[in-house]
Amino acid sequence: MRYPTDWLEDLRARADILSVVSEYVQLKQKGRSYWGLCPFHGEKTASFKVDPEHGLYYCFGCKAGGTVFDFVMGMERMDFSEAVRYLADKFHVTLPDAPDDAREEERRTLRENILRLNREAAMFFHKTLYTPEGAHVLEYLHGRGLDDRTIRLFGIGASLNRWDALTKHLEAQGASVELLAQAGLTVRKEERAFDMFRNRAMFPIIDARGSVLGFGGRALGDAQPKYLNTADTPAFNKRHNVYAANLLRKTKNLKRVLLVEGYMDVVSLVSHGIEGVAATLGTSLTEEQAKLLSRYAPEIWAAYDGDSAGQNAILRAIGIFDAAGIPCRVLVIPGGQDPDEFIRDHGKEAFEALKPMSGVLYRMLRARDGLDLSDEEGRAKYAMASAEILRSVKQPVELENLLKRLSVETGYSREVLLQQIGIAPEKQPPSERRREVPVIRPAAAMQADAGSRAERTLLELMCFGLVPEGIVSEDKFENRDNRWLAQQLLAGKKPDALLVTTEDEARRKLLLEILSSEPKVAQDEAMQMVAECLECMRREWIEKRIAALKAEMSGAEPERKGSLLKEIMMLTNEKKSLGPGRKE
Ligand code: GTP
Ligand code: MN
Repeated sequence: MRYPTDWLEDLRARADILSVVSEYVQLKQKGRSYWGLCPFHGEKTASFKVDPEHGLYYCFGCKAGGTVFDFVMGMERMDFSEAVRYLADKFHVTLPDAPDDAREEERRTLRENILRLNREAAMFFHKTLYTPEGAHVLEYLHGRGLDDRTIRLFGIGASLNRWDALTKHLEAQGASVELLAQAGLTVRKEERAFDMFRNRAMFPIIDARGSVLGFGGRALGDAQPKYLNTADTPAFNKRHNVYAANLLRKTKNLKRVLLVEGYMDVVSLVSHGIEGVAATLGTSLTEEQAKLLSRYAPEIWAAYDGDSAGQNAILRAIGIFDAAGIPCRVLVIPGGQDPDEFIRDHGKEAFEALKPMSGVLYRMLRARDGLDLSDEEGRAKYAMASAEILRSVKQPVELENLLKRLSVETGYSREVLLQQIGIAPEKQPPSERRREVPVIRPAAAMQADAGSRAERTLLELMCFGLVPEGIVSEDKFENRDNRWLAQQLLAGKKPDALLVTTEDEARRKLLLEILSSEPKVAQDEAMQMVAECLECMRREWIEKRIAALKAEMSGAEPERKGSLLKEIMMLTNEKKSLGPGRKE
């Protein structure tokens, strides 16, 4: 959703960047700015700067920077809208889209009350584990290889083997049965109220903000159902959340998120020292969950159970990741085990030694299941099914590797397989066919010339309010982004406010670089510099123009030649009057 610019500015003014950043970074004041160790990359000397005056931060090491919104987005892995809501909530600013009727307020209160009850319940379950009545559950957890440190980390607990222990406990604290039922903690049957969870090991489901959304309850032994999960409530939607999001958030610089199927898989892997693990909540993966997970690492590895249900779930998951454009790989657990069983049997090293495969290769392996490759028909079927799968491969190198493999397995030549895929090999070899690789733009080279350096300096002077009105116009700027910024500044926009509303990466970078630089000159020197910049930009423009005119000369009609020559002479004269320019 789009927020009104004025409102965003107001929020940004109130959401004090110093206090927000200070929650994560120890800052030391030096002059007008504050410095600390960058929370976005590991470092030993402070190159992370906060400028409270402009409400900005910038890291000279990793170049991360921006407004308080960017900071929250980066630290809390939120998108812009979430960061806005988060800060609005924190600094008590009313959202512009919040309907001011009492309904929304009511819903919000209900959600908060449910979350509060859940937190109470989680504490009750956890305490119960260490009482005589919970001892058998603790024994069960220990028997599954969990130590007390892990149990505490996940806040695991025990529900009692009684009808209404939790309900009574929370009622005594003033909660109504009505609310308990809405939280999914209590079931009402003919005037009586029972605990939803009884005699189970309790896994609280905690989101990235630390709210307890609900519970998964594991039966002890073979009681059915094996897992009982909190149904959706006004505070909890299974399809939008994952298990252990709170721990994911705390792990920095993850290279992948490991997605598993069960609560126990997460707990067990983490207790063996594997980081960045999460699970869906007893349903198959949704697009929302895929997107949520993708915030925490550049790729997701799906490590589902080795049984056939798990392996089919992987195919569905790959489809969801592909559709959402999220890089994903598959970690196949050998021996049909689930990750928990595997790591308990073979240890951390063996688990870490498992190599993930691409989703495409995984699909091919599955297409091969049940086919006899020693048989002509089996090979043909496999080749055709694989060709279908290979059609989606975007990377030429990956396609080539998989083709080689398929050719060896099936005996068909590379050319035949390419034809089967639908690529004619002679006309369009795969390396040609997929040329749409983004071209690297010579940004660095463009930066180097004197003209664009002058443009940059002039923009800096403008940003710091050192250029009087009426001296500069935007059409003096050659570079598109520079011209855009000049135009915005001339229209009276504040550079730090622009950072909030601009989505274009190059423009954001430009703004950040300018804003993080200190103005190098005093007011009285500024005019001199403005003049120099303008001169330099003009000279640069003239040189380019003359080169273009000269290029046009050869092959021009005699009449046209005359006027070209005239313009060249005029420009040459103007250039002379500008002087030689400063050598740097
Ligand atoms: P353990 O047997 O405790 O190791 O659990 P597991 O994770 O190996 O169990 P399984 O692979 O059977 O289930 C994976 C996940 O599916 C669980 O973590 C639950 O979220 C969910 N699940 C399993 N059984 C049930 C069930 O009976 N009902 C519901 N609603 N969900 C279940
Ligand atoms: Mn298991």
